[in-house]
Amino acid sequence: MTAGAPLLKTWLITGASSGIGFSVTNQLLQRGHKVVALVRSPHKLKALSDQYPTTLFVLKLDLRQSDKIAPAIHHAFQLAGGIDILLSCAGYALVGAAEELDDTAIRAHITTNLLAPIYLAKAVLPYFRKQKSGHILHISSEGGQITYPSASIYHASKWGAEGFFDALAKEVQNLGIQVTLIEPGRIKTEFDNNAVIIEPLLDDYRKTTVGTYLRLLTMGRFPMIGDPDKVAQMIIKITTDKNSPLRLILGSDSYKNIIRETEKRLQTAKLQQQSSKNTDMNFIDDD
Ligand SMILES: NC(=O)c1ccc[n+]([C@@H]2O[C@H](COP(=O)([O-])OP(=O)(O)OC[C@H]3O[C@@H](n4cnc5c(N)ncnc54)[C@H](OP(=O)(O)O)[C@@H]3O)[C@@H](O)[C@H]2O)c1
Repeated sequence: MTAGAPLLKTWLITGASSGIGFSVTNQLLQRGHKVVALVRSPHKLKALSDQYPTTLFVLKLDLRQSDKIAPAIHHAFQLAGGIDILLSCAGYALVGAAEELDDTAIRAHITTNLLAPIYLAKAVLPYFRKQKSGHILHISSEGGQITYPSASIYHASKWGAEGFFDALAKEVQNLGIQVTLIEPGRIKTEFDNNAVIIEPLLDDYRKTTVGTYLRLLTMGRFPMIGDPDKVAQMIIKITTDKNSPLRLILGSDSYKNIIRETEKRLQTAKLQQQSSKNTDMNFIDDD
């Protein structure tokens, strides 16, 4: 290798057919890296496949087919001759009042947004452990730290993933494997167009928080201020850092919202310093 030449890596990316995943894929290929794109719509990558026939491998998989994830990962390692980095981008928003969401919509969402990233991580771990290196990146969201009414199941998927990857990072920290949760704010992608929206039927939700949130959303009160190409640059950059942070906040909106909510949580927790002791075995109630 020429001195100073960038180290070329092989990435496995879900959601590479659109938005953030597409931008990362495109930029990596431009820089000479290899990408295995695990996507359900391979036709969306036709132009890139034609342009990068030897460095882009496209595998078809709908991530709701949980039992096919591990075999697909195994196939990907064989096909590309190894993988250094897993980036889970695939996901979508499910919007509606929790009470009015049916079981099918909830299961499809949790299977795609939460179970798939867990199964993907589990499938790469035996390889990463053996090679004593690897980086697992998951696109969480500011919505993995804060919540909006009408997005309860989306938050369940993102907060669930935050918990899983936070714990996983501790399990693999001595094995040469890094874990990063990416927490973007609103990014200009197909995210809103691909959202599954269940309009509230009950007045109790239509006329209160859920309906209000949906009206604000359609009025453009939550503008997509983030640039997917800049998000992609930051994601690629963080993989060159040997001590990357566990959480990467992207977007001034995300930063502002996460700080506001975590400070509120901290204040509420601190108010309970005394009362939390009431359940300790050695606590004596003087009243
Ligand atoms: N954009 C934002 O404002 C924002 C903010 C915070 C977090 N995020 C997160 O960023 C990630 C990427 O979203 P994006 O903004 O890039 O949106 P996007 O443009 O809608 O891209 C979503 C990607 O997920 C794929 N996908 C969805 N369901 C799938 C399934 N069952 N199997 C396989 N692939 C599936 C889509 O594939 P198809 O092309 O086949 O539909 C597409 O490639 C998501 O996890 C999202 O929650 C986005």
